[in-house]
Amino acid sequence: MATPHIAAEPGDFAPAVLMPGDPKRAERIAHLLMEDAKLVTDVRGMMGFTGTCNGKPLSVMGSGMGQPSATIYATELFSQYGVERIIRVGTCGGIAPQVKVGDAIVGLAAHTDSAMNSLRIPNVHFSAVADFELARAAVDAAPADKNVHVGAIISRDHFYLEVPGQTETLAKYGVLGVEMEAAALYGAAAEFGKQALTVLTVSDHLFDHSSDMTAQEREENFHTALTMAVAAAHC
Ligand code: HPA
Repeated sequence: MATPHIAAEPGDFAPAVLMPGDPKRAERIAHLLMEDAKLVTDVRGMMGFTGTCNGKPLSVMGSGMGQPSATIYATELFSQYGVERIIRVGTCGGIAPQVKVGDAIVGLAAHTDSAMNSLRIPNVHFSAVADFELARAAVDAAPADKNVHVGAIISRDHFYLEVPGQTETLAKYGVLGVEMEAAALYGAAAEFGKQALTVLTVSDHLFDHSSDMTAQEREENFHTALTMAVAAAHC
């Protein structure tokens, strides 16, 4: 059985999937966490792996960038491959002043400027929220010596477009950071009665670019987020 974007057999995915945006990061995470990681799909280079982590089955698969791409993979995993929970592990830009580069963020709720969730329920402004059980497990697993923030993030469609005043207003409303997938992932989980969470590493700050991470640092600095994501995957 294959879906249009995943060429795997029934049973190839574990009930829990860690989902970074970048398929190469999925490959690195899979081999970091699992000695027996096996490639189960690579349609369009979007690699998915399954193996055993801490004695329990786990899958890791890329989502691509942006809400349409993440929604395609989440929908196929939830609806066709028996996946019960998806934990996005990604990077974000910091917005709130207390958020620093290298910190981790648990995205309890995801505001968005995307139309994807507004199309779900007629005349309703959908609230994109994480699963509480997963969020609690991730927060409980936060290393004591790391700064971990828990709250609302924003999933924006544009990476480069600047809407005057928007980011400042989001900061005023307590939004912690910006990324590009969480709101749609939460929408897909709600559609199928499944669980989802987003755990992010802050790779840069929108109001202070003095300590932005390099591409290599982004690869090396996600261990706090990964520890928390694994705890959520197996809670
Ligand atoms: N937007 C802005 N900065 C970022 C993002 C984003 O989506 N992800 C990581 N840094």
